[in-house]
Amino acid sequence: MERFVIEGGVPLSGTTGVRPSKNALLPCLAATLLTDQTVTFSDSADLMDIASMLDLLRHLGVETDGEPGGPLTLRASSLSGLEAPYELVRKMRASIVVLGPMLARGGRARVSLPGGCAIGARPVDQHLKALEAMGAEITVDHGYVEATAKRLRGADVVFDMATVGGTQNVLMAAVLAEGESVLHNSAREPEITDLADLLSKMGARIEGAGTDTIRVRGVSSLAGARHTCIPDRIEAGTLLMAGLITGGHVTVSPAVPDHLEALLAKLRAMGAAIRVDGGAIGASCLGGLNAADVMTAPFPGFPTDLQAQFVALLTRARGVGTVKETIFENRFMHVPELARMGADIRVDGNVAMVAGSDLSGAPVMASDLRASACLVLAGLCAEGKTEVRRIYHLDRGYQRLEERLQALGARVRREKD
Ligand code: EPZ
Repeated sequence: MERFVIEGGVPLSGTTGVRPSKNALLPCLAATLLTDQTVTFSDSADLMDIASMLDLLRHLGVETDGEPGGPLTLRASSLSGLEAPYELVRKMRASIVVLGPMLARGGRARVSLPGGCAIGARPVDQHLKALEAMGAEITVDHGYVEATAKRLRGADVVFDMATVGGTQNVLMAAVLAEGESVLHNSAREPEITDLADLLSKMGARIEGAGTDTIRVRGVSSLAGARHTCIPDRIEAGTLLMAGLITGGHVTVSPAVPDHLEALLAKLRAMGAAIRVDGGAIGASCLGGLNAADVMTAPFPGFPTDLQAQFVALLTRARGVGTVKETIFENRFMHVPELARMGADIRVDGNVAMVAGSDLSGAPVMASDLRASACLVLAGLCAEGKTEVRRIYHLDRGYQRLEERLQALGARVRREKD
């Protein structure tokens, strides 16, 4: 197993690149199942999750060309299998987004239930309920979702909560359904809009992506397309906070400021200077940061995927800040590890109260992707040496993060156990 060894205390400075968004790429790759034509992505990210999705798509009969981290070309001339087996789905729960497109294109799908993960139970009832409303017959047996539908029908779907994966799955089913679908209480994340952009290039008729009501007029077939996924807003936010936590100044590019407005507004309120220049965002702070209160919420609210990193940042701020996690029920696993580094944090239910304190380096254990990023940030500002273990979690969502941090001046290296 690999770990990061970090010598803290160096202010980061400079400009760093941002890779294409993992959470946009995953559903966009699944969307290639909807057409027998070629879909090309100008760039991708070299991440375990992208490799896992490509494995799954190849298993379903998709021909792929290119490697994660570069351009990718996919063609699903015909689907050779309509089953996403447990061995592939268990590696990455986002695999569930193949259900909608498989069902829409092939009339049948058998997909292993993804199950829960470290941050919460994460059911998929909303995905299934919506597909049933569109005429699919669904059973859940022996850990598998089995769905059949000769041709899906357009339907009015009302999600009980804004679900990113649910909205993506149902959107991909609706584009090939017969008639009109209206998706009420849809998630509004930029990754949904990006997927809708790709589907529209393929010939889908979609209105309202990025709002809570998406209208889709089904078409009988889709064509190929070329697409560039949006830059990863979570990676950009993590790198901006890495700069601030060390008292340095980091610029990220390419980035879409509108995708990060909740974070940028909060950082400004804490005293950071934020510079936006076209597709570049810079953050610095001369006089130190003041604490702030944050509550995670669906987009355009503060992203749950930046909550852990923000908790790390608050340990460097003056005063006490509260962080309320409203999306996942178990997303404070970074807190006990931060406490080992001297952080003063009290958790009460879904609220963490973080008091500013000096951190000291320690061996810590990553529990999930964003918790790993939080611990790396803490290590960058802690006094002495921090070892972050189990960084395979980090590698799922950040392409060789240590190289980019090194280029900004950080003393961080990857070591094998
Ligand atoms: C996506 O997960 C992201 N993953 C997550 O990023 C992100 O944290 C999450 O959205 C919220 O923004 C990908 O895009 C691959 P949801 P997803 O469906 O789609 C409940 C990261 O670190 N819910 O929006 O699985 C669910 O339990 C990852 O990169 C149901 O109850 O999230 C959660 O509490 C982690 N029933 C809430 O809704 C359902 O059928 C939001 O989940 C679906 C969801």
